[in-house]
Amino acid sequence: MSAITAIGGLNVKKSIGSRTIVFPTPTWVVGTYDHEGKPNAMTAAWGGICCSKPPCVYVSLRKATYTHGNIMRKRAFTINVPSEKHVMEADYFGIYSGKDVDKFSVSGLTPVQSSLVDAPYVGEFPLILECKVLHVIEIGLHTQFIGEIIDVKADISVLDANELPDIIKVKPILFDTGNRRYFGIGSYLGKAFSAGKEVQSNQYQLKLLSRKTIQEVHLQGI
Ligand SMILES: Cc1cc2nc3c(=O)[nH]c(=O)nc-3n(C[C@H](O)[C@H](O)[C@H](O)COP(=O)(O)O)c2cc1C
Repeated sequence: MSAITAIGGLNVKKSIGSRTIVFPTPTWVVGTYDHEGKPNAMTAAWGGICCSKPPCVYVSLRKATYTHGNIMRKRAFTINVPSEKHVMEADYFGIYSGKDVDKFSVSGLTPVQSSLVDAPYVGEFPLILECKVLHVIEIGLHTQFIGEIIDVKADISVLDANELPDIIKVKPILFDTGNRRYFGIGSYLGKAFSAGKEVQSNQYQLKLLSRKTIQEVHLQGI
């Protein structure tokens, strides 16, 4: 017997509890220096853009990470966006701690000293944000570090005609929070702040009207 998945045209939802599951989240690598100036890289998926003016980004880190102490001391970090081809190294940076190993040496990736902030970035990764700490917010298990983006650096090879990083060329990695897997990006769907205007069109509204009529007929059992 098949389970009921839709009632009156609406999907049936099931509660799966209060959990940290949402799509998409990034797979980023946070670059920092420790107290001896040793560069470190750690993977973070709890992060995003959080202000446009000043341009800011956040990452939420547990106190137990080496990176946490590094950021508290240096008040600076970099966000490094790996390409699909570096998924192995990105995962490695998220398994081992800079307390125990020199992750740059082991992975063979290159720490490049930022000239703007007291933190290194990953030379091989195509997109870098250089950040100075603006706010530190204690949430619970995680501390949220809000960094002001001092500069964005992108490989020339990933820039488009408008001098903007092209997501198709960067090939960022998405993190599947529930099943802990990595994915690439999907296909192009439409232009932002533009595709939505279609909703007001006659064609869209007509389609909506006919759908509503079918639903009403269905519900009335005629
Ligand atoms: C895909 C992925 C995402 C992760 N996201 C976070 C995160 O957002 N915050 C966090 O505290 N740890 C996160 N971790 C775990 C840290 O990367 C891990 O504890 C790492 O060893 C810390 O490195 P460090 O001690 O050198 O700073 C993540 C790990 C993986 C593999």
